[in-house]
Amino acid sequence: MIESLKQLREQAVKELGTISDLALLDEFVVKYFGRKQGKLTFVLRSLKNLDERQRKIMGTDANEVKIEIWHLIDERRQAIKKMGKKEFIDLTIDGAKPELGHLHPITKIRQEIENIFKSMGFAVMLGPEIESDYYNFEALNIPKDHPARDMFDTFYIKDGDNLVLRTHTSPMQARIMENHKPPFAVIIPGKTYRNEATDARHEHTFHQIEGLVVDENVTLAQLKWTLETLIKNLFGKEIKTQFRPSYFPFTEPSVEVLMSCIFCKQKGCSICGQSGWLEVLGAGMVHPKVFEAAGYPKGKYSGFAFGLGIMRFAMLKYNIPDIRMFHQNDQRFLNQF
Ligand code: PHE
Repeated sequence: MIESLKQLREQAVKELGTISDLALLDEFVVKYFGRKQGKLTFVLRSLKNLDERQRKIMGTDANEVKIEIWHLIDERRQAIKKMGKKEFIDLTIDGAKPELGHLHPITKIRQEIENIFKSMGFAVMLGPEIESDYYNFEALNIPKDHPARDMFDTFYIKDGDNLVLRTHTSPMQARIMENHKPPFAVIIPGKTYRNEATDARHEHTFHQIEGLVVDENVTLAQLKWTLETLIKNLFGKEIKTQFRPSYFPFTEPSVEVLMSCIFCKQKGCSICGQSGWLEVLGAGMVHPKVFEAAGYPKGKYSGFAFGLGIMRFAMLKYNIPDIRMFHQNDQRFLNQF
């Protein structure tokens, strides 16, 4: 009898596993627990034919099997009910938050620099990225055969049609002077292009901010104050600046602006090449030839201009080791800003 109880249990468990609707489950209940024909009912009923000692042992076993199978039937019933349920949307559960976008580091630092200049009274203007040879070079005192053209590795749109991808934002100096009467103070942020092999410090596509101030009696001292104010606002009051003579065809005199190395505090490191100084800007006093090309009366105005590399500033500010990271769009990089 113990054997048949065991077999019965196994059979019942197996059968239960295959049942997937409530009607079949009811049939199963009848099959095993029905009052007349139920298989387990039969076993339980036949206990009374055993002698007392056996009845005690068998009785306990049979009861355990009965309880176990009732439990399984219950579980099965819940499972079937669940399966049959229509999709249920619980509106009280918090939804998955969509990932928020954010500004690109170049945009962030550009806005920061723009705000510093705006606070000094500068206006912001934009210009075309496809430029004529005239504005990119000629109007800036760089005629066709000028050796300074070598400074700018130029992308030409098409041979012979005199269109280039602007190699700097300086062409906007000429455009603005052509149709604005001084005094004015403007900055021109934008993308610039040079046909260069890329490495950690060079990109073919980069960003500049041009600055131009023209009035009567504008001085180099004002240029110096303006750029010092920019650098101190951006990197801290303790930063020192240095102005060295330089050369650009469209400014005279021309200067190169350096700031004390923010990484080593001028102790000497690999980023400043052990010099303690970082080159950050090109600038100078607007060249008389540029005023002339714009049609300004001779000798009436003076002005200063400067050009800064936005990515270079961002690299220094955020400690980014490779300029190419800006355009790779690697989320692991971008998400840090
Ligand atoms: N256009 C120059 C460059 O890209 C920078 C510059 C701008 C220098 C304005 C002087 C005045 O290198």
